[in-house]
Amino acid sequence: MNTTGSPRRIDLSRRPNHHLAFGNGPHTCIGAHLGKLEARAFVEELLRVVPDFRPDGDPELEWNSIDGRRIPGEFLSLPLVVVT
Ligand code: HEM
Repeated sequence: MNTTGSPRRIDLSRRPNHHLAFGNGPHTCIGAHLGKLEARAFVEELLRVVPDFRPDGDPELEWNSIDGRRIPGEFLSLPLVVVT
C-alpha cells in the first residue's frame, strides 16, 4: 500500500519513507540518536510483554507547528488489539 501523503496512517514498511521526524533542512534534532534508542527500547519491551497485536482504528495525534510546518506532536491514543 502506498501511504505517502497519508500522515495519519502508520505504515512501518512504507517505501519510499521520506518523513520529517527529526527535522528537514538546515536544522536537525540534536536528540535524534537518543530518541531512536528510546523508541527501540519501547518497541523491544512492548514486544516482550505483548508479542502479537495489530492497530484497531486510527491513532489520535496532537499536532505541533514549526516554522509554519505541521508536524506530529504526541500520540493521545493508539488503539491496539492483542492477537491471541
Ligand atoms: C522521537 C523523539 C524526537 C523527535 C521526533 C524529535 C524531533 C525534532 C524536530 C522535528 C526538531 C526540529 C528540527 C528542525 O529545526 O528542523 C527537533 C529539534 C531539537 N530536538 Fe528533537 N526530537 C526528538 C527527541 C529529542 C531528544 C530526546 C532531545 C534531547 C535529549 C531532543 C532535542 C532537540 C533539540 C535541542 C532541538 C533543537 C536543535 C536545533 O535547533 O539546532 N530531541 N527535534
